[in-house]
Amino acid sequence: MSELSVNHLLGIKYISEADIELIFETADHFKEVINRSIKKVPSLRDITIANLFFENSTRTRLSFELAEKRLSADVINFSAASSSLKKGETLIDTVNNILSMKVDMVVMRHPNPGAGVFLAKHINASIINAGDGAHEHPTQALLDCYSIRERLGDVAGKKVVIVGDILHSRVALSNIFALQKLGAEIKVCGPKTLLPKYIGEIGVGVEPDLRAALEWCDVANMLRVQNERMDISYFPTTREYTQQFGVNKKLLDSLNKEIVVMHPGPINRGVEITSDVADSKQSIILDQVQNGVAIRMAVLYLLASKIKHNED
Ligand code: NCD
Repeated sequence: MSELSVNHLLGIKYISEADIELIFETADHFKEVINRSIKKVPSLRDITIANLFFENSTRTRLSFELAEKRLSADVINFSAASSSLKKGETLIDTVNNILSMKVDMVVMRHPNPGAGVFLAKHINASIINAGDGAHEHPTQALLDCYSIRERLGDVAGKKVVIVGDILHSRVALSNIFALQKLGAEIKVCGPKTLLPKYIGEIGVGVEPDLRAALEWCDVANMLRVQNERMDISYFPTTREYTQQFGVNKKLLDSLNKEIVVMHPGPINRGVEITSDVADSKQSIILDQVQNGVAIRMAVLYLLASKIKHNED
């Protein structure tokens, strides 16, 4: 297979294992490109991409923008804070106005779950979901699995525990779908109030005890508590959360094997993970960030080649 089965990347839910493998093979190539002294290729020279960020972002926005520029695309950026949304314009109107400037692809982060799927039905451009509320964040899951594959050789058969605020996390849901498609075993660990009720029904184990979860796993993906998505208190205090669900060096060193530690960022140092763990050799946090550019280049390239193909 040399092309994706989809015209948009709206979620890991909508793509196949073969799609993921194709993205990884393509990212291997781009990873080699971005390590060259000339990091730029002309592949998307005739493509214009709009980055529409209706919600805050640092890593993801910069990573997409860099990936687009390294592929030589023309790029326009939009952020909700400085837009006409506050003047009452609808999402479709905002996006259609931008598209009338002949934009081929849209990278969108939006606080509403399903915003990408909705937009894909109404506009004529290829859409990449860069995070839709607490729903999906597909490129994050792809770069996470790619980083596991890079460190451990394969994702199939690996045991991965996702720790923390699973309920509000699009990173957790997209990771679960991607890890399952690639044949990993998954458990979640966190305060009961922050685990979704459906978690058992989607084939994910629950381990309430952090030490037991870490003893079981090959990889621990530590998530941030998404305070901005909480309108009530889900656990007593941050200090208690850290005592029960935070990873520190002492705990890591006391395990019976060397596990790999991941975090999508932004990190709350000293809450879900201590600095000495985040900066240790078991941590692949900065590899994740670096791989994010290659993964996003691969996704953009593969989706753009479908646009050209449709026009032939
Ligand atoms: C995550 C997000 O925005 O969903 N960060 C990211 O994209 N790297 C996770 C988070 O905000 O905790």
